[in-house]
Amino acid sequence: MQIEFLDGTLAADTSPVARIVNQDAIPADLESVLTDGARASRFSGKTAQLFEGFVSRGGKAVRVALIGAGDGKAKDRLAALERAGAALTAKFLASGETALTIDLADSGLAAADAAAFLLGARLRGWRHDVYRTRMPEDQKATLKTIRVANAPAGTEAAWEAEAALAQGVEFTRELVTEPANVIYPESFVARAEKRLAGTGIGLRVLDENEMAALGMGALLGVAQGSVRKPRLLVMEWKGGQAGEAPVAFVGKGVTFDTGGISLKPPAGMEDMKWDMGGAGAVAGTMLALALRKAKANVVGVCGLVENMPDGNAQRPGDVVTSMSGQTIEVINTDAEGRLVLCDAITWTQKEFSPAAVIDLATLTGAMIISLGNEHGGLFSNDDALAEKLLDAGIASGDKLWRQPMGPAYDKLIDSPIADMKNVGPREGGSITAAQFIQRFVDKGTPWAHLDIAGMVWAAKPGATWDKGATGFGVRVLDRFVRDQLEG
Ligand code: BES
Ligand code: MN
Ligand code: ZN
Repeated sequence: MQIEFLDGTLAADTSPVARIVNQDAIPADLESVLTDGARASRFSGKTAQLFEGFVSRGGKAVRVALIGAGDGKAKDRLAALERAGAALTAKFLASGETALTIDLADSGLAAADAAAFLLGARLRGWRHDVYRTRMPEDQKATLKTIRVANAPAGTEAAWEAEAALAQGVEFTRELVTEPANVIYPESFVARAEKRLAGTGIGLRVLDENEMAALGMGALLGVAQGSVRKPRLLVMEWKGGQAGEAPVAFVGKGVTFDTGGISLKPPAGMEDMKWDMGGAGAVAGTMLALALRKAKANVVGVCGLVENMPDGNAQRPGDVVTSMSGQTIEVINTDAEGRLVLCDAITWTQKEFSPAAVIDLATLTGAMIISLGNEHGGLFSNDDALAEKLLDAGIASGDKLWRQPMGPAYDKLIDSPIADMKNVGPREGGSITAAQFIQRFVDKGTPWAHLDIAGMVWAAKPGATWDKGATGFGVRVLDRFVRDQLEG
């Protein structure tokens, strides 16, 4: 979906025109057939409420949509405007119309408001139909362009940053949506190399031999059951002060999770193509930061493996040695994400001495049981960092909810044979997973772990996404960088 700015007056064509309506303030300059029609259908301009009618202008029938912006009083005004933009796109996406003009004259919106509206409109328009060769004509997405007329001063500049963010979210959605025969560790890297080329991001890739030489026995233990070779993808963005320690984002990139020898049941296993959602969010965030030339030093690291059962797969009871030197008894090969993350985090700390580490992972089913599909779980060793992430979550719409940690939980993963085991009891399963990761975080390094298992994939359409990949994670990380690192 393209967003274009028109200067001057509306193009005299027949594409639909949308007007933003603040609550109980239907514009007076509209034809009476519209205002009467809107009133008759109880349209009042509530957030994302939509009314559509046809009027005759210059001898042509013009389709006019009124879209409600709400009363503008809510704390989440920008989120409401995003929802309004998204509702407009949802209505016209497969309408047969290829372009739509949003007329912002007398909308009362500030530039940031208008940009939020456009962000919602753009994000809701993303689809991945590349594998649908027999799609009925009337279901195909037709809307390609949104034109903006009479935008308030500064909207175009405000939109530039949001457009970068949109591209990051869309890249994440693409990676998450692709099936596991298309996106596996090597092809994930290739896709990222292609998309990030020319953005100024520095890329490095570690292969299995380099990881073996570094002693990444935990990550490699997961990978050894698959014919797909593992990779560690490193993306560096240096937009901040030279020499200033970067913030590191580390993503779980299990491109398919069968569970390994601790095989998952068949029902729903196809969902495990999106077990790389953490890595996808990290890659999308790096793209967004680079495209908007963020004034911050940030490094993104993706631990990429496929978890398969095989003659060479690791067994329950195997003991592996992580890069940190700590040994792990692998009780359950399906608790593989933490095994990947621990080595990725150890390497990241050694390589970059980061100012903070934030990892993202579709780590536990238990997280979905706790928080459903409304919040990602936040675990942290640092109250200040946790607060900042919670704030960024609220501001961006990628909402987080903090979870407890502590020594009593940590004890639950002690092992009789090694330094730790990779699972605790069923109870508190998301917390013991976080405790496991914390054992690899250097003393004094602020760290947060986002368990986003319930957030990366949606069974039904949401505020600014269709059903399927949501792109969760990109917006909260981008907001965190804007507010905390770029200040
Ligand atoms: N990738 C899964 C977690 C998951 C489950 C994400 C469902 C999204 C939807 C993870 O690797 C896993 O299998 N976790 C196990 C851990 C258990 C064996 C301790 C789980 O949650 O069942
Ligand atoms: Mn698993
Ligand atoms: Zn997994």
